[in-house]
Amino acid sequence: MSTAERTTATDADRDTVLAYLADRELPQVSGAYQLYPTRAGRPGVAEHALPRPGHGPDGPVDRISRMLATGNGLARHRFLTVSGARAFLPTGAPGWGFDEQHVMTTLLRLVASGGAAYPVDLWLLSGGESGLPVGAHRYNPVHHGLTQVTTEDPRPRLARALGGAVSDLTIVLTTRLERTTGRYGKFAHRLHLLDTGHTLAQLLIAGRSLDWECTPRLAFVDDEIEHILDLGDETEIAFAVVTVGPTSTVTPASDPAPVRIPPVPDRYPQDVLRAARRSEPGPELEFGEITMPRDPDRAMQRRRSPVGGFVAPPPSAEDLAPVAEAVDSVLGPLGGHGRLVPPKDPRVATRIGAPGHRLNLSLAGVVVPVLELPELVRKHGPGAFRVGAVAVGVSLQAAALVAADRGFGTFPLCAYDGPGIEANLELPEASTMCVAPIGVAAHVGASLEVPL
Ligand SMILES: Cc1cc2nc3c(=O)[nH]c(=O)nc-3n(C[C@H](O)[C@H](O)[C@H](O)COP(=O)(O)O)c2cc1C
Repeated sequence: MSTAERTTATDADRDTVLAYLADRELPQVSGAYQLYPTRAGRPGVAEHALPRPGHGPDGPVDRISRMLATGNGLARHRFLTVSGARAFLPTGAPGWGFDEQHVMTTLLRLVASGGAAYPVDLWLLSGGESGLPVGAHRYNPVHHGLTQVTTEDPRPRLARALGGAVSDLTIVLTTRLERTTGRYGKFAHRLHLLDTGHTLAQLLIAGRSLDWECTPRLAFVDDEIEHILDLGDETEIAFAVVTVGPTSTVTPASDPAPVRIPPVPDRYPQDVLRAARRSEPGPELEFGEITMPRDPDRAMQRRRSPVGGFVAPPPSAEDLAPVAEAVDSVLGPLGGHGRLVPPKDPRVATRIGAPGHRLNLSLAGVVVPVLELPELVRKHGPGAFRVGAVAVGVSLQAAALVAADRGFGTFPLCAYDGPGIEANLELPEASTMCVAPIGVAAHVGASLEVPL
């Protein structure tokens, strides 16, 4: 491809992403998401049990066990009695008429996820130095184990994908597109990137609390990473990579991975997905510091989305400032910030959620993460959309843990009137992807539930 052709292609890619960002149509669902547990297995080479994720783990296997469980382990059940369950079912839907004793249950993780669909899967790439078998493994949250999918040393290809030094252990965050797309259509792509950011922040915080140097990598060669995972025809895409522990130089694989055109579910914005794929490792567009919660373990166990309710006495702006600052810290280097809006401010309060939704005006306040994604894409190319959207997710998971430290809950609310809020707050167009209401977190006991 000539330089001129490449430039045209890049401009077309940029336009594709800009058109997606300009499209603010929300899916036709109520503000409250339907909850359903989703978990899909895939035939693997072998299953390796991981040690129980204990506190203060020593060796690399214990530590990686804790990181994976923290990022994607099953943490708690949510029970909805019939009245609660009804709120999640449209009138006339199957289950609407069930008897009074009926209880719906879903298994939740420690991280938030749009619609509790948990589309993000974790993979562990092992070079063998830690004692874990060499190859690519999918983390299995049900049995807290690793499903080995390949037995090849992943590092040479990883060196091609990342364009430099690699670590013995690497975590890849993939997204199972179909888990969210049926319900949210083309909007699902936004949720997938935000969800990836939430899990990424959780992993980085867990890594740091284990004194493990972990680095997020977002500008990798998609085909190379997906070839290592042998994704083939799966409707699954890698959106983030985390190198875990010290890195060393490895001779890169000599042959490039075959070009992969990932199959996507109907209604998924395939063109946007393709536009952001990289054929060369690029310079990383870096987001800022993740604020560590005061007590990461406790904050992770206590974090959950708020269910509204009164906050008495009402928190002051100083109480809530650290939550907005956690957003500032991540988005700052990309030119974004977290805007704290007081409770009941009609500029925002009248434009979030749906009538009868669990959120109400008695929330403690709202943080609006502001990031001019169209500007980032114009400046840095289509890949910047991924980085920016993932960074918004990272900032909100960090903010949620800072809030949990203080007994509050916060989460991204995508069922909101974006253009309306942007106009009311005099923000640039398409500079928000969600808002983050702060409220009281509903406390039900949480722990990492690892089946024996
Ligand atoms: C990207 C993203 C978008 C979300 N959007 C909404 C929303 O629009 N409405 C809502 O009620 N909850 C929303 N949530 C919250 C999820 O429903 C919640 O995280 C999930 O049910 C799990 O519960 P937990 O956060 O208490 O663990 C969102 C979460 C994420 C990560």
